[in-house]
Amino acid sequence: MSVLNDSVIIDGVTFANRIVFQPMEGCDCNSDGTPSELTVAKYVNAAKSGAGLIWMEANAVCPEGRTNPGQMMLTKENLQKFKSFVADLKRIAKDECGINPVIILQLTHSGRQSIVPMIAYRHPIYEEKRPVTDDNIVTDEYLKTLPEKYAASALLAIEAGFDGVDVKSCHGYLFQELLSAFNRPGEYGGSFENRIRLYIDSVKAVKAAVPADYLVVSRLGAADMVPKPYGFGTTEDNELDLTETDMLVERLMAEGIKLINITIGNPYYNPHINRPFRQGAYVAPEAPEVGLARFITVQKHLKDKFPALSIVGSGLSYYRADLMERAEEMISVGAADLVGFGRGSIAYPMFYRDWKDGKFDAKKCCVSCSKCTALMRAKCVSGCAVFNEYYRNLYKEKVACQK
Ligand SMILES: Cc1cc2nc3c(=O)[nH]c(=O)nc-3n(C[C@H](O)[C@H](O)[C@H](O)COP(=O)(O)O)c2cc1C
Repeated sequence: MSVLNDSVIIDGVTFANRIVFQPMEGCDCNSDGTPSELTVAKYVNAAKSGAGLIWMEANAVCPEGRTNPGQMMLTKENLQKFKSFVADLKRIAKDECGINPVIILQLTHSGRQSIVPMIAYRHPIYEEKRPVTDDNIVTDEYLKTLPEKYAASALLAIEAGFDGVDVKSCHGYLFQELLSAFNRPGEYGGSFENRIRLYIDSVKAVKAAVPADYLVVSRLGAADMVPKPYGFGTTEDNELDLTETDMLVERLMAEGIKLINITIGNPYYNPHINRPFRQGAYVAPEAPEVGLARFITVQKHLKDKFPALSIVGSGLSYYRADLMERAEEMISVGAADLVGFGRGSIAYPMFYRDWKDGKFDAKKCCVSCSKCTALMRAKCVSGCAVFNEYYRNLYKEKVACQK
């Protein structure tokens, strides 16, 4: 018997096992924000995968916060479509695997990565790649309007049938960028209290809007690995410094957050940190093992410091043949309660069921080639361009021929 199969109760909610289908945006929703056939196909796989937790991808809380025209966006107008989508996934999971997976919707504002960039402050490092002007800086007045949008999205998520919502702060999107807004004037910059204000206010607004037993969780970028004052959780020399991360987690827990999905780095700037790869757009300045160890260090640090906190561990897909052993180890060393698989889940959606049945096939595992991201960056829909024929052909047509 493996710990991965054990059910667990977190914040009053039962998770059938420790496996998490991580949020993996496909940029493939319809223009009204509803799931397209491609989106549905991915989540049908997730429902059939046997994962106890399906952490659905980035869903914009407002149109201007969408990172691309295919980003998911639940609204009053399209609620019915989401209702049947979520109900179908639950039925499929029950029929195929006999479980009730917990399905969480990730609520986001893309900030700097929105279609029209909406930035917290001028960032000399990020702006090398995507130039902006002062006009792109969001005002305090605008930021004040966001907590109620998060609350409204959370209420819609309940109606749609989601079991929980994620108030997301990671990967350089708006909330995460604000965490390092050391040099921003006004109510959302400078002091720690100001930099965490929007995140905490949004958690509070969501918590106040939903029933007391509704699951509210967060995907948190524990450290950007971008030098201070342009990154959070990091020193001026770009070393890990979790002092403020600890303070933030303490505040999140005081607001009632009991489950955090830990991620590190910014996929637009240092993707090797966020998702260690064998092949990417550049040669990584550190060995993948260094990045993998960083996940364990950060997660274990938080688990040790906050025994009441449950953690989803990230960054596992690189391990290929050793995937399941490393996932078990992550839990047994006390670095996670649940284990997340991102690229691994889209490459080989049935990996967990196959493993349980003694049929795990390492040859089907993610090869960490970064083609899923390359598709995204080429403004295409994204999926596994190695094992899925549709995305393989798309990659050949739209990305490979540009090289
Ligand atoms: C194509 C792609 C899309 C992603 N979309 C999201 C997303 O919508 N939300 C999020 O929090 N993380 C997103 N991620 C990050 C993954 O959830 C995960 O943290 C990362 O891939 C590292 O985990 P892995 O090694 O299991 O792939 C995405 C990653 C990729 C490659």
